[in-house]
Amino acid sequence: MDNRSIGVFDSGLGGLTAVKEIMKELPNENIIYFGDTGRVPYGTRSQETIIKYSQNDVNFLLSNDVKMIVIACGTVSSVALPILAKTISVPIVGVVNPTVKAAVRATKNKKIGIIGTSGTIKSGSYEKLIKNIDSSIETFTKACPLFVPLVENGHFDTMVAELVVEEYLSEIKEKGADTLILGCTHYPLLKNTIQRYMGENVTLIDAGKETAKELKNILTKDDMHTDIKENNQYKFFVSDNVDGFENLGGMFLEQKIDGQVEKIDIEKY
Ligand code: DGL
Repeated sequence: MDNRSIGVFDSGLGGLTAVKEIMKELPNENIIYFGDTGRVPYGTRSQETIIKYSQNDVNFLLSNDVKMIVIACGTVSSVALPILAKTISVPIVGVVNPTVKAAVRATKNKKIGIIGTSGTIKSGSYEKLIKNIDSSIETFTKACPLFVPLVENGHFDTMVAELVVEEYLSEIKEKGADTLILGCTHYPLLKNTIQRYMGENVTLIDAGKETAKELKNILTKDDMHTDIKENNQYKFFVSDNVDGFENLGGMFLEQKIDGQVEKIDIEKY
């Protein structure tokens, strides 16, 4: 048993898609979330910068005495996870492994589409893991850099979102993939628009959902669940204005988070 909080971080708002799933899967756990809203996006930056930023993020969470860390960011999970894991003593979980396992289980025609940030797609993280599990699976990748600003500005289900989705996903659709990995934690916010465009026969794999399940398995295996059954706490930290995050984040989590979001200076960590 371990009553400390679970630490979750992302480059911005997108990691809340994982938080929402963790809240559902593990309703008694306390969560501390950091969204690096002042430095988002990470997905277009160099590996060196992504590592430096994510080290700040991890150090901030560790300074809050978290029992484990969830990297709720496809880019950091793809580019920096092994390096971060070497330097810390609490368990650290990324989104790539659980998502890939779910996609391999889901595909019937062995054609998987992968979308993510430029950094994620360039790293080849999802494809490599898929090929390790089953080399006969064909993969089709596409970097979708405009999806993150759409989401950060609340364009989840609008005509603008529809146009951008069509622009990015037409190739993967033509190739006939029956499974699509949403390889960035911002993308589940565009799920309705993506599903409408791809058609209902295509299975969308949501990184947040799969990661929450993996997290539960780890807590169970290592006997790290909390035994506190009430008054669980959610704390949110950002590196820029709290207002926008409170509005969009609260809307997305379907609960008010006004007054629970604090701005910090992440470069100090
Ligand atoms: N959350 C990031 C990811 O999952 C996308 C946003 C960014 O580029 O920082 O890859």
